[in-house]
Amino acid sequence: MTSFEETLIGNDIERAVQLLAAEKLVAIPTETVYGLAANMFSESAVKEIFAVKQRPATNPLIVHLPDVDSIHEIVKEIPAEARILLSAFSPGPLTLLLPKNNSVPDIVTAGSPYVAIRIPGHKLALDLLHKVSFPLVAPSANPYTYISPTSAMHVKKMLEGKIPYILDGGPCQMGLESTIIGFPNGSPAIYRLGSISREEIEDKIGKVELAINGKAIAPGMHHKHYSPDTRLILSDDPDKDFVHFSNYKIGVITYNNYSELLPHEQQVLLCKNDDFKTAAANLYAAMHSMDNKNYDLIIARKFPGTGIGLSINDRLNRAKEK
Ligand code: TXA
Ligand code: MG
Repeated sequence: MTSFEETLIGNDIERAVQLLAAEKLVAIPTETVYGLAANMFSESAVKEIFAVKQRPATNPLIVHLPDVDSIHEIVKEIPAEARILLSAFSPGPLTLLLPKNNSVPDIVTAGSPYVAIRIPGHKLALDLLHKVSFPLVAPSANPYTYISPTSAMHVKKMLEGKIPYILDGGPCQMGLESTIIGFPNGSPAIYRLGSISREEIEDKIGKVELAINGKAIAPGMHHKHYSPDTRLILSDDPDKDFVHFSNYKIGVITYNNYSELLPHEQQVLLCKNDDFKTAAANLYAAMHSMDNKNYDLIIARKFPGTGIGLSINDRLNRAKEK
């Protein structure tokens, strides 16, 4: 693995283009989370992604593209439902698993005949994708199983000295990873809940199966993921659970209103008034900051299991102690 004296942060898109063309890694903003980007065709850069993240080579990477036309260059076919989803949600937090053609290196898909593609809905990311002459592979820019970054500073804290440059596009607007849809046996299924809710997908193409546990071909759906180092538990009602941890220094991640049983400065309120999109945007920043505070325990309040609440609960379930 290459090391760098300092990981620089800036909004110099030409610098990002040059580094990527020179087969180096650049962290890039997207509307969901920051990605760790590389030229899809550079074997050494793709290997460097796995090394920097300490991610197993069996866990494939999402290919980021500038527009729908470029999808045709790397896949064999686009099913009708995928076309509907693309016109509804791209650019945006939609990832599709499609049959790859020979141009996609096997290392990118971990040997799978399917490639994950997405067109990110962030201006700087799109500008960059239009300027480079190759697709960008980009997993989230965090060490394997740790919390994804939603700001340039999160990336710097986690990857300092391991990459040369972070393209700063401000805080991520959506804050949860893209929703992944595949078409096993021809019908659509959700492989990862994300920034587009299950209901929003079903509004466009009808009922979709949840393939997130069990037979899923997405090996990245490890149960432990998105985890702080601090022990984290989930709670339907933190007020009731405090009694079990009376000697603990506790941080609470909650929504709508603070618990009155704990000082407000030990709590993060993700949103007011059931605005769960805002809660999703704030979730990882809350987890990063709570993990820096030397708490013995983080208690996260479970969300109602509908809409984006379902996606938030998925992340909290993976983050909690096992
Ligand atoms: O929002 C996002 O999707 C972010 C931003 C940076 O685009 N990216 C992201 O990448 O979350 P990553 O690598 O952290 O998560 C991608 C997930 C992994 O669980 C991986 O296993 C799965 O997508 N995946 C990627 N390629 C796949 C493939 N060919 N078949 C099945 N699953 C795949
Ligand atoms: Mg990730």
